[in-house]
Amino acid sequence: MADGQALTASLDLLAERIGDPTEDVYARLFARYPELEALFSMDTDGGVRGSMLSQAFDCLMDLAEGPGVMAETVIRSERANHDTYDVPAGMFEVFFEIIHDVTKRAAGSDWSPLMEAAWASVLADASRLSQPLPA
Ligand code: HEM
Repeated sequence: MADGQALTASLDLLAERIGDPTEDVYARLFARYPELEALFSMDTDGGVRGSMLSQAFDCLMDLAEGPGVMAETVIRSERANHDTYDVPAGMFEVFFEIIHDVTKRAAGSDWSPLMEAAWASVLADASRLSQPLPA
């Protein structure tokens, strides 16, 4: 619950200060993993990148507000789908971390310990859900 409020507050700061963070998120992703850019070559209008990011935000909010059933379903099924897009293991964690970094940078001096704690909690959950299920 507290996580939900703190996460929302941080995302409000992001929206106020940056507006649409899509460009920044993907620029950071492709700077760290240039080989991933080619996977989006069919996404000529940016629609896939936009809806991917929006799903990721929805998952983070669902994890913060609880109970996280939607996030669990989406992350697990998308992780399986992304195997077929040749997205390597570990990249979901990177994507969620980049969203954290962009949000923290936008919040600047208004970033709070409560926000840090909320993000640490949802990133840990998102990372756990991004692992393959034991056979
Ligand atoms: C670095 C991490 C990721 C990479 C490289 C990646 C890559 C891709 C690619 C290449 C596609 C297009 C597939 C195609 O249509 O052929 C795609 C679609 C999609 N991805 Fe990701 N993905 C990542 C993380 C995530 C995460 C964390 C989520 C959600 C929690 C997500 C949700 C989606 C969704 C919903 C689509 C379909 C979007 C649409 O067609 O409207 N992805 N992703």
